[in-house]
Amino acid sequence: MLAPSLVLSTLYGSGHESSGGGLSRYAILAPDGAQDHFAAMTTRVYARGSAEGAPPCAQQDPEEAGVDFWTERVRRYGHTGWCDPVIYDFEQRARLYTVARRLATYAGQKDVALDFGTGTGDFARLLACHYRRVVAFDPCVEVVDLARRKHAGVANIEFRQAPSVAQLDLADEGLDLILSVTVLDHILDDSELDETLARLARKLKPGGRLLALEYAVNADESAALALRKGNAYQRFSPLGEWRERLGRHGLSVERLTSFHDPYHNPAPSWERYRKSLVRRAAHRLGWRAVEGLCAQLLILSLRDLEWAGERPSLLKLMDCRKGAGA
Ligand SMILES: C[S@@+](CC[C@H](N)C(=O)[O-])C[C@H]1O[C@@H](n2cnc3c(N)ncnc32)[C@H](O)[C@@H]1O
Repeated sequence: MLAPSLVLSTLYGSGHESSGGGLSRYAILAPDGAQDHFAAMTTRVYARGSAEGAPPCAQQDPEEAGVDFWTERVRRYGHTGWCDPVIYDFEQRARLYTVARRLATYAGQKDVALDFGTGTGDFARLLACHYRRVVAFDPCVEVVDLARRKHAGVANIEFRQAPSVAQLDLADEGLDLILSVTVLDHILDDSELDETLARLARKLKPGGRLLALEYAVNADESAALALRKGNAYQRFSPLGEWRERLGRHGLSVERLTSFHDPYHNPAPSWERYRKSLVRRAAHRLGWRAVEGLCAQLLILSLRDLEWAGERPSLLKLMDCRKGAGA
């Protein structure tokens, strides 16, 4: 069998270019500094939502869900993730891999899990490998319809749509795990976020977990403020604010890791994927499956997407527990 490093260098080249050059590639999206870069990109990419003042779809009448932000996203791209397919193909796999690794470390009861804001259901499917029953909730009608079709063969997932989590009939016996992958960050209204967290926390069993991969910026508030400016789509809350808010609902962050993101905290695997000659050739030929395979191979072999220490990252994996008394 070929050594992984040999396979990698054959597929991807030496990979010794500096990762610092990564941002310049995106000059077409946002030519300014790294900070403005991301802010401009998110503002531009999500301009439709901002211009129409579109709230997250949970706030909309489900009858009108056909015109909301997420519905438009799923119609246009077939998913609710990054619009750029090169980024999406890496990011979604990177997130799935990281959440899968974390789930594998959990001991204890694995009865019912909730995938909160399931999108097209990729994480629900992952949860279904670990939990007896999975409730996959999303407020957007078309998003849930697509998720249902995509995972039709998976018997232990129940896809549910409701205008908000408050109207969702959840397991009386309580949840062992709630997963939120870039969902809470989209609830912009403070009281709505608090009500959502209160409801989610109430539905967790004592000792149950909330695993949240969310934008949670480091102590330097100016970074968060710059990102928030002009963004009507994401909270970009500072980490301290998340801790405090979660704590108010009896959820303590037990373990925290910084997670890769392609702009502020790119992992070497991302850089190699981005620069790979094979991937770029596949991209030109429209061979998306080959691009996906490149991403998967790099993610599996380099395993470099999380950092335990402080690092200037936007995305954090917050592993929270519900206290016994909460
Ligand atoms: C960025 S996507 C993430 C989807 C999925 N978790 C994933 O990572 O593939 C955000 C999702 O959150 C859903 N969403 C938006 N507001 C929500 C709310 N208040 N409650 C629950 N889900 C919400 C959207 O419909 C969308 O599917």
